[in-house]
Amino acid sequence: MTIKACVFDAYGTLFDVSAAAREAASEPGREALAGCWQALAETWRQKQLGYSWLRAITGAHCDFWQVTGEALDYALAEQKLADPELRERLMALYFELSAYAEVPEMLTELKAGGFATAILSNGSPEMLVGAVTSAGVGGVLDAVISVEDVGVFKPDRRVYDLVGTTLKVEPAEVLFVSSNGWDAAAAAGYGFQTAWVNRAGLPMDRLPWRPAHELTDLTPIPDLAGRL
Ligand code: LAC
Repeated sequence: MTIKACVFDAYGTLFDVSAAAREAASEPGREALAGCWQALAETWRQKQLGYSWLRAITGAHCDFWQVTGEALDYALAEQKLADPELRERLMALYFELSAYAEVPEMLTELKAGGFATAILSNGSPEMLVGAVTSAGVGGVLDAVISVEDVGVFKPDRRVYDLVGTTLKVEPAEVLFVSSNGWDAAAAAGYGFQTAWVNRAGLPMDRLPWRPAHELTDLTPIPDLAGRL
């Protein structure tokens, strides 16, 4: 068994990033959002990632909470839904996003199998505490690592370096799991063993590196980690 630690991306991988818009859209009085929440959630996510990359390559770092708010402002403006109350509600829901259904049992199984478990995320420490607490998975995570420790976003190598410095493991002893194809690919380039959780059935990103394993949800992770 070569794997000592399973390290997870947070947003989109453990936590359902579309849950905030979906839940807000189901609240009374939000008919306008109900008609476009999927498009809003998609733009919100794409802009959030795009802004994180632009800030990383220009050295204009700010934390992911600010990036998330700025991306939401763009998405709300695009849907002609800009409204401070709705913005505040969506950000509050984002702070306590739901985890995907299989997450607690999968993490519990990994811990029982003797693996270290951690999150490595663009999220600010406060955001990650919010999501981990609301999902109730703090007890089955050994570390919650935020890019704020290095002040740059993924896929900068300095972010992936945080796994080794925090968990005292070599890259080849890490199974890195992400639903973001670009994150899984960059982590493979870094030297981690990698699994891409492709829930949406998307094509593989055309990058210089490829994740070794492709899954449709997180359920097989403990079994995969035990076989590598
Ligand atoms: C994260 C983003 C990339 O959690 O989903 O790091």
